[in-house]
Amino acid sequence: MRKKVTVVGSGNVGATAAHWMAAKELADVVLIDIIEGVPQGKGLDLLEAMPIEKRDSFVVGTNDYGDTANSDIVVITAGIPRKPGMSRDDLLNTNYKIMSDVVGKIVQYSPNCILIIVSNPLDAMAQAAYKLSGFSRNRVIGMAGVLDSARFRAFIAAELKVSVENVTAFVLGGHGDTMVPLPRYSTVAGIPITELIAKYLKTGSAYYAPSAATAEMVEAILKDKKKILPCAAYLQGEYGINGLFVGVPCKLGAGGIEQIVQIKLTAEEHHALQRSADSVKELVAVIGA
Ligand SMILES: NC(=O)c1ccc[n+]([C@@H]2O[C@H](COP(=O)([O-])OP(=O)(O)OC[C@H]3O[C@@H](n4cnc5c(N)ncnc54)[C@H](O)[C@@H]3O)[C@@H](O)[C@H]2O)c1
Repeated sequence: MRKKVTVVGSGNVGATAAHWMAAKELADVVLIDIIEGVPQGKGLDLLEAMPIEKRDSFVVGTNDYGDTANSDIVVITAGIPRKPGMSRDDLLNTNYKIMSDVVGKIVQYSPNCILIIVSNPLDAMAQAAYKLSGFSRNRVIGMAGVLDSARFRAFIAAELKVSVENVTAFVLGGHGDTMVPLPRYSTVAGIPITELIAKYLKTGSAYYAPSAATAEMVEAILKDKKKILPCAAYLQGEYGINGLFVGVPCKLGAGGIEQIVQIKLTAEEHHALQRSADSVKELVAVIGA
């Protein structure tokens, strides 16, 4: 049976995620948005690229949640960006309303799906989706760490002039200024980068990399790869954090998050993670999730 992935929000990240997934022939893809015409147009455009790419992924755009029924995975990218004059809390509350609307409909049509949340502020929106869906925690995953560590890896590879394939990197914590890169667990062909470089983390691409990161998580789940990736996960005591979405290493397979991997942290790393969790807690308090 072919797998089905719905992407909610057919803007930059959503449409590009659909592109990566269709190009990798991971699943049939449904793009849905509240704007009429845009998901249909982008979906048809992508479908028409498939003969050139020699892929049999079926792609369709819609405004009707009926078309999303029985999706295996639903990626949520719906949201609005911060507008001039808009406070952090206004943005939180607006995106929370969008999340409530979207999650309610998704749960109705795809009660057994796995949710991958991409909308920002990431950890708070993942927490909102977890509470709104009533799903078990293994089925609600936030996308941030794969992107943050990919950005980290790209800079390390460019700076050291080595293949990106030689570079592994790890980032923990919330998605934002307080994230915790772990140089001790980041290696170039097995050599910890603490021995090679000092500090590289910067910002990168706004949607090619985020959507590629999302597609990597989708692939790990659909192919039951048991791949360990940094994801925002609902912690229940792991890393000394309880009742909060925070970025940690997770094993992704057919069941979603199949294991939260606990690695040893130094006191300094632990403190940085706690500080990051505290900032997520502040956001979550605003929306009461
Ligand atoms: N987690 C990450 O690492 C990461 C990285 C990049 C972007 N993001 C976030 O992803 C989100 C999408 O970014 P983008 O650049 O694609 O934005 P975008 O504005 O291009 O697309 C967002 C889409 O959501 C749609 N939308 C709004 N309300 C909706 C609703 N109720 N139902 C269905 N669709 C709805 C809009 O019509 C729009 O097409 C943003 O919140 C952004 O901050 C997260």
